[in-house]
Amino acid sequence: MDEATSIEGLREGVLRVERLSYRGKHYRLPIFDPADPVVLRARPGRASLASSADSLVLRDVHSLWDPARFREPRRPVSLGVLDAAELAVFTTSGAVRVLDLPIKMPDCDEYRLPRALAQFAGVVQRIVDVEHAVNPQHGDYHAYLTIDQRPVTPGTLHREAPCHVDGFQGARWHPRCRLNHSYTVSDVLPTAYYPQPFDFAGLDERVHDFFWEMNAQVADTAEAHRWQPRPAELTMMDAYCVHRGVEADAPTERTWLRLSFEERRRVFDRLGNAHNPLFDYAWEMVERDIEQLGLVAYRKDGDPSLRVFPWQGVDGRPLPAGAPKTRPVLRPR
Ligand SMILES: [Fe+2]
Repeated sequence: MDEATSIEGLREGVLRVERLSYRGKHYRLPIFDPADPVVLRARPGRASLASSADSLVLRDVHSLWDPARFREPRRPVSLGVLDAAELAVFTTSGAVRVLDLPIKMPDCDEYRLPRALAQFAGVVQRIVDVEHAVNPQHGDYHAYLTIDQRPVTPGTLHREAPCHVDGFQGARWHPRCRLNHSYTVSDVLPTAYYPQPFDFAGLDERVHDFFWEMNAQVADTAEAHRWQPRPAELTMMDAYCVHRGVEADAPTERTWLRLSFEERRRVFDRLGNAHNPLFDYAWEMVERDIEQLGLVAYRKDGDPSLRVFPWQGVDGRPLPAGAPKTRPVLRPR
């Protein structure tokens, strides 16, 4: 048992935690006990959607990725807000953090949670009830679960990032795959979305960092279109919903969940992703991150914070360990 483990203790159902680092990023991989899993099945008849009329997210479920669709502003769909009882379970402290853990595989309609993640079963059930109601092709998809629970200090983000989308299909993905769609919820500090038209004509996915251009186009409007769901509101977005986390202004404990649906070709074999022992698979896990692609900014003007990674200073040099991450200036003076 390593030192951190003995200090923090292990959630019941976690056998041990493995550590992994590459390119300055550090991961903790929980190794789950497969005994006594929580197995869920969708009940689409109970699906509850708080908003759905004219939703582009629902219209485009199972469509092929097409960056031209960024021109249509779109908001996530609401599935409603967690009630107090649901929220109490969801936010139980000591949650196990996982990154893109597959809990459903294509051609299987069971959602399998290691018992250490049982506190999330209620929210996952709500999500999969909706998924099977709105996506007739659900059998073609993986579902990947990410859980992040931790204290957020003032002026920082729970998950630092530029404006971005989940499920961007860069140069690696040809022919194009079906569109990612993801359900998310957080108890506090709901994500900010930017339902505005984005125009990427002129950008080359092999050359340009599209997320930096998203920063630039949000900054062009000084965040005029920013929209946030309510705390504990469960929403569904797709890979054209540009978003970014929101800074805390006081010390805040935050619990955040994402369940991403990705078609069968989209195997998330990134080193650092958690393994689910409730499925029989052995993907070769590889180092993969956007930095290694060597992408550059399309626009060289505007605030330099719009075109660096959070771990870089505005001069592009890596920040010292422990320094505050660089935030994109989205409301330029
Ligand atoms: Fe995201």
